[in-house]
Amino acid sequence: MPSVTTIAEIGKHEGQLVTIRGWLYNLRESGKLLFPIFRDGSGVIQGVVPKSAVPPEVFDAVKGLTQESSVIVEGKVRADKRAPGGHELDVSNVQVLQRVAENDPYPISLKEHGVDFLMEHRHLWVRTPRQAAILRVRAEIIKAARDFFDERGFTLTDPPILTPAACEGTTTLFPVDYFDEQAFLTQSGQLYIEATAMALGKVYSFGPTFRAEKSKTRRHLTEFWMVEPEIAYATLEDLMELAEGLITFVVKRCLERRRPDLQTIGRDVSKLEKIKTPFPRITYDEAVKLLQDAHAKGALENKFEWGGDLGSPDETYISSQFETPVMVHRYPAKVKAFYMEPDPQRPELALCVDVLAPEGYGEIIGGSQRTASYELLVKRIHEHNLPEEAFKWYLDLRKYGSVPHSGFGMGIERVVSWICSLEHVRETIPFPRMLHRLYP
Ligand code: 4AD
Ligand code: MG
Repeated sequence: MPSVTTIAEIGKHEGQLVTIRGWLYNLRESGKLLFPIFRDGSGVIQGVVPKSAVPPEVFDAVKGLTQESSVIVEGKVRADKRAPGGHELDVSNVQVLQRVAENDPYPISLKEHGVDFLMEHRHLWVRTPRQAAILRVRAEIIKAARDFFDERGFTLTDPPILTPAACEGTTTLFPVDYFDEQAFLTQSGQLYIEATAMALGKVYSFGPTFRAEKSKTRRHLTEFWMVEPEIAYATLEDLMELAEGLITFVVKRCLERRRPDLQTIGRDVSKLEKIKTPFPRITYDEAVKLLQDAHAKGALENKFEWGGDLGSPDETYISSQFETPVMVHRYPAKVKAFYMEPDPQRPELALCVDVLAPEGYGEIIGGSQRTASYELLVKRIHEHNLPEEAFKWYLDLRKYGSVPHSGFGMGIERVVSWICSLEHVRETIPFPRMLHRLYP
């Protein structure tokens, strides 16, 4: 058998006989000439099978072959400028490992399908080139985020997933039976990496997090992956610089390494090429003004009142006003989590920042400076009706060498959604978990 290669690497074997192992993606037949399209997970390539040039059993194996049958193909690589990957394969041999039955064909044909049908067949849908490209971009974003922190002296520390208490509000917790105790799936690793930050200085976590709100928006998953840095002695200013550095690093990496995938997805990359630092920074007060002006002009239906949290339509409007992500800082403390440090100039505000992606994608990062004072933190825990007992260890961090410190969380799926310009976060993760989706 000629040497095995992948479709992605096939350009290195021009003029040579190679073997690829994959699946039949599509087949065009025109009399004595067959044009099978093969995919192997790394890409797709068109093969050419002329009846006159191959043994009859090879021609017969390909003729009428069903979509997604598994195949091992031998052929000679030929450069072809018109071909999508720049090459075609002159097929000389085909071994069919498993032929998909004619009477039970692959359910996802090349015609259009409804989203519900595709979600129900997500285990197969991931095979289509567009979905595979999105998953490659996702992997690149994750790698880039990890490289960014690894290269800057951060230590990866993994927080627990089973936790005894809430981090982001008690209304959105998934309860779990933990022997004789009540536990919850984590909403964020933050509280735990505040502890490791006091041990290691600069840390980050990367893991799955869970939110139980019954939200049906296109930005919400019940299970999503978050990368969270936490830094001892860092202020809100430091945090904003880190956030814009991370985002530009990730975007640049995708443009460098995932351009063909972005093309497959149909992403207008010129918009991503405009992403550079510094990002505009506006205060919550300024954001409110922007929203009220938009309402006065008729661009927004509801009049936004100072004091509320920004809703999806508000974020969409603000982020559509900028070509790069925009950082909105200093929200009213009332609409934010219990652990945020108040602004010393205006204690009704929290030293926090949300980063909103452009093109209407909304919040991709949320973070803050953390309350350093023991007394204030106890007060906030009570105000938020949280059980002080469960936070005893967290309060210890304010008793033994408390320092100003800050961190944020970046939702991987929101970033994938924006970088790939998707309509919904459900396509950003192999198996999305949503209000009405637990299968497959
Ligand atoms: O703004 P959030 O809730 O912040 C926290 O959890 C902080 N404890 C993070 C920290 O400071 N270490 O969530 C952070 C990010 C959001 O900006 C968003 O990108 C993403 O996580 N996110 C979601 N992504 C998908 N589905 C959901 N339901 C999400 N909720 C938050
Ligand atoms: Mg948030």
